[in-house]
Amino acid sequence: MKPTPSKKLTSLPPYLFVRINALKAKAKAEGLDIIDLGQGSPDLPTAPHIVEALRLAAGDAQTHRYPPSDGLPELREAIASWYRRRFDAALDPNTEVLPLIGSKEGIAHLLMALLEPGQGVLVPSPCYPVHYNGVLLAGGKANIMPLKEERGFLPDLKAVPSAVARRTKVLILNYPNNPTGAVVEDIAFLKEALDFSKKYGCLLIYDNAYSELSFDGYVAPSILQLPGAKERAIEFHSFSKTFSMAGWRVGFAVGNAEAVGHLAKFKGFLDYGIPAFIQKAAVAALNGPEDCVREARRVYQGRRDVLVSALREAGWPVNPPKAAMYVWGRLPDAARKMGSLEFCERLIMEKGVVISPGSGFGPLGEGYARFSLVAPEERLREAASRIKSFIASLSPSKGRALARS
Ligand SMILES: Cc1ncc(COP(=O)(O)O)c(C=O)c1O
Repeated sequence: MKPTPSKKLTSLPPYLFVRINALKAKAKAEGLDIIDLGQGSPDLPTAPHIVEALRLAAGDAQTHRYPPSDGLPELREAIASWYRRRFDAALDPNTEVLPLIGSKEGIAHLLMALLEPGQGVLVPSPCYPVHYNGVLLAGGKANIMPLKEERGFLPDLKAVPSAVARRTKVLILNYPNNPTGAVVEDIAFLKEALDFSKKYGCLLIYDNAYSELSFDGYVAPSILQLPGAKERAIEFHSFSKTFSMAGWRVGFAVGNAEAVGHLAKFKGFLDYGIPAFIQKAAVAALNGPEDCVREARRVYQGRRDVLVSALREAGWPVNPPKAAMYVWGRLPDAARKMGSLEFCERLIMEKGVVISPGSGFGPLGEGYARFSLVAPEERLREAASRIKSFIASLSPSKGRALARS
C-alpha cells in the first residue's frame, strides 16, 4: 500500500519556492546567468563577532549535549534585555520568552498547539505563506482579511463580520510586512487590533521579523509597547533578517505567558531546541555591537533605491517600501492578462531573473510580484534592464505556449 498524505497536507497549495527553484535550476542548466531575487534569504554575511562566538562555543563539549528545549537561560535573559533596550518593554525571561528554531517553526507550532479542528483564524492576504498554511496544517479555518493598497496594506478590522469575529481564536498580523513592505505608521492601528482581540477573546500573533530592517529613519514598533498587550499578544522575531543569520535557524517568541507556555509544552514533545553553540552565538548577536544591523539597513535601503529607480526607468512604476527587504509591485500593464505566475516563470526561463509571483502569497497577491533585495546593486540594475527587454517582448501567444510546456 502506498502511503497517502493526510487531507490536511493535500489541502496545502504547493510551496512556491519548490516550483520556482526547479525552474531556476532548469534555466541555469540551459546556460542562463541567474539573478535570484526570489526568496528573502539575506546574502550579507553574519557579522564576524557572532561567527567567532559560535566558534568558541562549539569548542566547549558541554554545547554538544542536548540543549534544554525551552532555551538556555542566558539566551532568554539576553532576549529580555534586548527588548527592554529596544522597545522599553519588560519581559520575564522565565515565562514570557521562548527561543525558537526560527520564527517559522514557532508560528506553525503555536497554531498546532492552540487550534481545535475548524477553529477560525484571521489571516491577512497576501501574507507570508506560513501564516495561511500553518492554519491549514493545524486543522484550523483561515478567514482572509484582504490587505489592499489603498489602505496602505492594513486590514480593515471593522469589516470582519461579527459572526466570523466571534468564532476567531487567533488574529495574525505582520508589520513591517512580507510581501508588501507596508509598515504601521500610526500606533492607533495596533491599539485597534488589541481592542479587537480583547472584545472577541482571541490571541493576537504579531510577526515582527523585520522590525530592525527599516529605512528613511522609520522605527518599527513592537505590539508589546502598548499597555496591556501581554494579556492578548505574542510577538515573533527572527535572527535571520536582523543579523543575516537565516541559515542558523534561530528566532524567538515573547509576550503572553500562557501562549508562550503552550508553545513551549508543544515543542517539548517535538524537538530539543536550538543547538547550544548557536544559542550562545545568538546571545553574542543580541548583546554585541549594533553596527552590523545598521550596515544591513544601509545596504538594503541603497538597494531599494537602485531597484525602484531602475524599474521605473524600465517602465515598471513601483513604490519604495519603508521597511523589510522587498519591493512589491503591481504587474506592468503588458503582463496583467497572463497573471503573476506565468509572468515570473517566463522571466526566469527567458531572462534568468527570479522574482516571486504575487499569487504565491495567496489569492489577493495576484496581479503583483515581489523582488527580494538580496543581490548587489549592479545585479539589481542588470535585472531591471533584462526586465525592460522582457516587458517589451511580451506577447500573449508566446506566454500561453510556454506555460503549457
Ligand atoms: C514575515 C516573516 N516571518 C517569519 C519568517 C521566518 O523567519 P525564520 O527564518 O526566523 O524562520 C519570515 C521569513 O521570510 C517572514 O518573512
